[in-house]
Amino acid sequence: MARLSINGQTYDVDADPNTPLLWVIREQVGLTGTKYGCGVAQCGACTVHIDGAAVRSCVMPVSAVAGKRITTIEGLAAGGKLHKVQQAWIEHDVPQCGYCQSGMIMAVTALLAEKPKPTDADINAAITNICRCGTFQQVREAIHTAAKA
Ligand code: FES
Ligand code: FES
Repeated sequence: MARLSINGQTYDVDADPNTPLLWVIREQVGLTGTKYGCGVAQCGACTVHIDGAAVRSCVMPVSAVAGKRITTIEGLAAGGKLHKVQQAWIEHDVPQCGYCQSGMIMAVTALLAEKPKPTDADINAAITNICRCGTFQQVREAIHTAAKA
């Protein structure tokens, strides 16, 4: 049993301590915005925030995050208002198939919280998420727009 705080709500989940957080979020809590891509911390589709930092939830045991503040894509908008990164994503028409995008947005919001005006080098270093649709240029432009918002 683990007590998790996700998007400001408390969930008691019954899961083996080694179960990846991703599966608990999707299967037990029912928040399916966080996606499964590779399962080995390579693609970033499963990115969530743990205490504000971007973490790949497919390799994060649920036992390691009890008592921490977990945020998923569903918890990013506040008070009925989209996050500025989500707004910039709409403005730049970033998503194609969309599969990688919630993880991409979670990685970007964590980057901007740490570095409000990232350079292209900062973006290259921090945003290593894989997009099979090749939205990388739109992602970069939307990051710069969000940084100005
Ligand atoms: S599914 Fe977690 S990094 Fe790919
Ligand atoms: S938008 Fe399709 S994988 Fe990124």
